[in-house]
Parts: sequence; structure tokens; C-alpha cells
Amino acid sequence: MIGFHPLASLGAEVSGVDLRAALDDATFALLHRGLVEHQVLFFRDQDVGPEHHLALARRFGEPVSHPAYPTVTGHPEINVLENTPEKPPKIDTWHTDMTFMEQPPLGSILRATVVPPSGGDTLWASLFGAWDALSDRLQRYLDGMTATHSFAHGFRHSLAEAGGWDRLGDAVRANPPVHHPVVRRHPVSGRKALFVNRLFTTHLDGVKESESDALLRFLFDHLETPEISCRFRWRPHSIAFWDNRSTLHRPVNDFWPAHRRMERITIAGDRPR
Ligand SMILES: [Fe+2]
Repeated sequence: MIGFHPLASLGAEVSGVDLRAALDDATFALLHRGLVEHQVLFFRDQDVGPEHHLALARRFGEPVSHPAYPTVTGHPEINVLENTPEKPPKIDTWHTDMTFMEQPPLGSILRATVVPPSGGDTLWASLFGAWDALSDRLQRYLDGMTATHSFAHGFRHSLAEAGGWDRLGDAVRANPPVHHPVVRRHPVSGRKALFVNRLFTTHLDGVKESESDALLRFLFDHLETPEISCRFRWRPHSIAFWDNRSTLHRPVNDFWPAHRRMERITIAGDRPR
């Protein structure tokens, strides 16, 4: 029997499911409901391979590859996120994945393949919790506003490196800035989520730059409130599946220079409304 065991105000560990087996309709429905409700699901001791990882993702939608990351040989849908002594981690910022797209992903499923001896946890935070904790006055100000999200902004440090434009120039041209509502409604639950993030959101549309900068700075700090976050300690054969429509996340890069390797499948989503 499938069970959900909440970790904090968001996040739940899932018991009673074997991801090596095909998900029947009843189990899929429970997982889907659990994902929307708990926002990030954690699975332990799932000794699965890329084919099971893909089968789980495909139950929820079409995989989309990230333009900036390498992929698993033979599986172009699976991105590899790997850090070694020669390759330090670069992302140390809270973010929602790929909000530089017109239709950012529904979610991502991250599978640990090499876990460092200590550290390397991942943090998630709730965009629902962030919205709910704002005053009525600020909610009224933000509701109906849009913000600009940019791939080039999120990857500006990589672009500034030697050869950065050679590697990422095509992705910059393929992903011009997009506009998303600052407050989006979850397409399944209808709950309101504060949909901005420090990595990709450049400004609030239609207001003075100084006003946008000050408000975004406040909102980014607000999104990092511990009370709306959870932290997951990876072990071999751990999997995390997050709802990218209602969360943001960040890695904790305290493990480097140890080796950490993750495989990620990102699932196509809809246009935020
Ligand atoms: Fe991410």
C-alpha cells in the first residue's frame, strides 16, 4: 500500500512503491495526487536504471532535455549533472527549473548515481507557502503582473567564461526572454504560487527598474524562508520528484571536491496562467 510521510511543510517520503515495476493506473493516480499535494516526493532504495527512470517520467508527460547539460549515452532525454574535482558545481542559486521557456517543465525526476560521503543535500521551497505568507496588500499589488525570465541571465557566468558563447550561443538564440505571470495558478489544484526565481527572473514588467529591483530582492529573500522549505539527504538509490510549478530548489555545494553524479529527467509542462 502506497504511503506518503511528510518531511516538513512540503516534501513527503513515499513508501510502498517499487519503481522497477510498471505503474498501474491506481498507483499512478495516487502518485500524481501526492505530487500536487506534497510538491516534492522522495523515494528511497529504488535500485532502478535509466529505463525505469524514463518509464516513471513518461507516465507524467514528455521528457524535455536541457540545452546546457550533457546526456546519458543512448538516452538523450536524460541529463547528467556531475561534479568532480576538475568540475566544480556552478549553480548555487535558488531556482525553478527552466522558467526561461514559454512552457516551463511540469517537474523533474532526479536520481542519485554517485553520492558524496557527506554533504550535497538538495533544498526545496514552496511557491504556495511563499504566496500565502504575503500580506493581502502585496498580493493585490502582484496579482495580474508579469515578470521577464531569461536563459542568458541565468547562464551569464557560463557565457562569460572562455568558449561560453561557443557552447551556449545557440541556446541563448533559441531561448529569448519570456514573460510569465508573477502569480500562477496550479493547473491541477488551482492554488496560487509566487512564480519568480533568483536565477532566471530579471525584472517585473511595467514598473520602474528601481521598483522592480527592490521588490524582487524582497521576494527572492522571502522565497528562502526556512519555514517553507525542506532538505533532502541523498543516499545511493534515492530519487526526488518535484512539481516544478509549485517549488523552487537549490543544491548545497558543500560536498565539492568530492564526486557527485545525478541523472535528471525533466517533464514538459504547460504555459503558466
Ligand atoms: Fe534545478
